[in-house]
Amino acid sequence: MFDAKIVRKDFPILERTAPGGNQLVWLDNASTTQKPRAVIDSLVQYYEQHNSNVHRGVYFLAEEATELYEGARTRIAQFIGADPTGLVFTKSTTEAINLVAYAWGLYTLQEGDEILVTEMEHHSDLIPWQLIAKKTGATLVKLPVTDDGFLAMDQLPSLLTDKTKLVCVTQMSNVLGTINPIREIADAAHAVGALVLVDGAQGVPHLVTNVAEMDADFLALSGHKMLGPTGSGGLWARPELLDAMEPFHGGGEMIREVWFDRATYNVVPYKFEAGTPNIGPSIALGAAADYLTNLGMENVRTHEIEIARYAIAEMQKIEGLTIHGPTDAEYRGGVVSFWVDEVHPHDLATILDTEGIAIRAGHHCAQPLMRRLGVPATARASFYVYNTTEEVDALVKAIDIAKQRFAGAWA
Ligand SMILES: Cc1ncc(COP(=O)(O)O)c(C=O)c1O
Repeated sequence: MFDAKIVRKDFPILERTAPGGNQLVWLDNASTTQKPRAVIDSLVQYYEQHNSNVHRGVYFLAEEATELYEGARTRIAQFIGADPTGLVFTKSTTEAINLVAYAWGLYTLQEGDEILVTEMEHHSDLIPWQLIAKKTGATLVKLPVTDDGFLAMDQLPSLLTDKTKLVCVTQMSNVLGTINPIREIADAAHAVGALVLVDGAQGVPHLVTNVAEMDADFLALSGHKMLGPTGSGGLWARPELLDAMEPFHGGGEMIREVWFDRATYNVVPYKFEAGTPNIGPSIALGAAADYLTNLGMENVRTHEIEIARYAIAEMQKIEGLTIHGPTDAEYRGGVVSFWVDEVHPHDLATILDTEGIAIRAGHHCAQPLMRRLGVPATARASFYVYNTTEEVDALVKAIDIAKQRFAGAWA
């Protein structure tokens, strides 16, 4: 049986007290997640017992490191229902999306082509496309967000045309928590011959994810948002797409044969892993995928529905507090963005910090969405496997304290 109170015992950092003497309440999981002992041990064990470069040496340590690295690739691929041949290790979602932009977009897109990007994309799934559009003459087209925080799916048929070459959509919004209907979008995109890039930074850690069921063409993920180390992540793409793409970075390992003026390239996924990769973090990301698999992603999702439902209900009792995004927990993840009248999100986050509660305040790297919501910033509490309803109570109490402190301050 899934029990967050038992799960949290696996996370040493959650035993910390904050400077004011309060127990740490970590509610910034959309930014990065804490690491369980199994992930920390995996990283330490790699450096203590197996440290070596991969794919190169003939000595036993090189073989051990390579086995661990490739084993992690297989397990992470399984975690998203994919074949390991299509999984390229990257350092983050940002790097994975840039890989697609520069190794696919730059060579494929041309003047007159369109890239459909949702209005709720993180900057990491917007700026690379702005840069590629500038270089190729392609145009960005916006799939808008509705007033209640969903994608305007009724507009999708008219926005998809034979000019559309790529649709960029986040699996789950890092601001609104909205879970997007990826399969429906992919079916519509494929019907006009466009590819679909799914930003899985928020979705993969929290939802049962299967690239075949989604019918995605590209899926980017961040290891550090799914209990893995920073510097770990991946791009999954259909192997035939990876095969046809140009390399992203050039250097060692990604080649087959090199002459002074030309080269042939390695098979995928190695064609996209130039130089020494992030070996230890990638291996430890495999341990994170195992940890989540053992918890059961269905259980993770059920827990997040429960905690989001509880948090939204409790927060809605606070006068002057507005929640952005869907309020029905079935349609959203555990990312809750909100605005409290008369308390700027940064002031709120600062006061919460004095209570030991870590939340995020700002534009969350989604400025076009902030404009759509008509706010300069939001406060954001985001939950994960180790968060409890008691922590939600602590959050609500601390928001009340902040409200009292700022009462009348804006008059
Ligand atoms: C939806 C979404 N996409 C992309 C990113 C970028 O992830 P990273 O910083 O790991 O590259 C984030 C990070 O917050 C995110 O929430």
